[in-house]
Amino acid sequence: MVQLDLSSNLFFADKDLNDNKLAAETAYSKLLGRSGKGNDFLGWIDLPEQVGDELLECIETCAERLRKSSEVVVVVGIGGSYLGARAVIEALQNSYANFRSHAKTDNRPVVVYAGNHMAADVVTELFDYLKDKDYSVVVISKSGTTTEPAIAFRMLKGDLEQRYGKSETQHRIVAITDEHRGALKKLADTEGYETYVIPDDVGGRYSVLSPVGLLPIAVAGVDIRALLNGAKSMRQQLMNHQDFSENIAQQYALMRYLLYQKGKKIELMVSYTPKLNFFIEWYKQLFGESEGKEGKGVFPAGAIFSTDLHSLGQYIQQGERHIFETVISIKNSNSRVLIPMDDENLDGLNYLKDKTLHDVNLTAEEGTRQAHVDGCVPNLKIAIDQLDENHLGQLIYFFEMSCAIGGYLLDINPFDQPGVEAYKKNMFALLGKPM
Ligand code: PA5
Repeated sequence: MVQLDLSSNLFFADKDLNDNKLAAETAYSKLLGRSGKGNDFLGWIDLPEQVGDELLECIETCAERLRKSSEVVVVVGIGGSYLGARAVIEALQNSYANFRSHAKTDNRPVVVYAGNHMAADVVTELFDYLKDKDYSVVVISKSGTTTEPAIAFRMLKGDLEQRYGKSETQHRIVAITDEHRGALKKLADTEGYETYVIPDDVGGRYSVLSPVGLLPIAVAGVDIRALLNGAKSMRQQLMNHQDFSENIAQQYALMRYLLYQKGKKIELMVSYTPKLNFFIEWYKQLFGESEGKEGKGVFPAGAIFSTDLHSLGQYIQQGERHIFETVISIKNSNSRVLIPMDDENLDGLNYLKDKTLHDVNLTAEEGTRQAHVDGCVPNLKIAIDQLDENHLGQLIYFFEMSCAIGGYLLDINPFDQPGVEAYKKNMFALLGKPM
């Protein structure tokens, strides 16, 4: 269960929320009534219900095939075509999975990512890493024309063809793209790659519960049905409670909006486990690209505590007061680690004996929350029982819905990204791309 806890928030009176709850309810009903800005991109609302058994079976079979034939699967994509998959995979897989030496024998390929940058050194290192390994490629691009993944894919395709020949390469590449348009669609049809469709009405950053996220996530051995079940249950919860007092997506969206109005322009999304590092990257992209336009929008930032308490902690406690914090809190750890007793106690840690590491982490969380609230950093808490597929599915749907409601509260279109074109336009002009 995802719970929103606003209890230690001293920055609002109930009146603030009551006076504005109608705005949140209106934004929500505009969204569900499909009458707001960008309403041709609302396919994500029903995605958890619409991904049927047939598609899931195809994805699972394809994932199994790639797992069997590959020591490494390279996921090529950028932005919404990559971050969701990486968020779920890194949250749930063993943190040291990519350091295993016998990946091929246990039918769990190492998943690596390409096409999300243009750094030559890293690309060189990727090919060096791949040179003695059997690998396959999942290439993901809705437009099919994005420069970063297109360059990486051209190179990987060339390498695969050289190593395996054209016909085996055909089985080592899977494309996920638009149903009709784009260079990748054309290429996939010409080469005969297995292809999955990104629905027309689902934008990149809202696409993790479509094949865009589901195929790479299944390749990594994560249970995609449980992920979707989690998303379905959150969808149900939000659909069944359209009233502000019971709808946590509306509550979170309105809180963020009111904090923004009060000058808290930066949201620091915090987790107390590095396993959520890429989940926070996903959140940053979802909210940054959705809200940041027309001179408006909360700036989405992220931190992993307690790690970053030793870097950003000073600023958060005493720097400029333009930050609010949202903590994704995990009640129960999946592992029980006891802090051992030491007879000599030279490090003075025996006062912690018999405590679990998770208890100490939760205590750090509570202590930090109090300190930051005292330091005028409003704190919101989104609590889940444990880190698993179901809860991540719930969180994904919760954040997507909150983000869309937040966009409507700001009176912008949360489903476009016109600003992203600016750098591309200049880069293409400088590179002399034919028009
Ligand atoms: O959310 C978005 O729409 C973007 O972040 C895109 O996902 C990103 O730009 C990649 O686009 P494409 O999938 O067309 O390659």
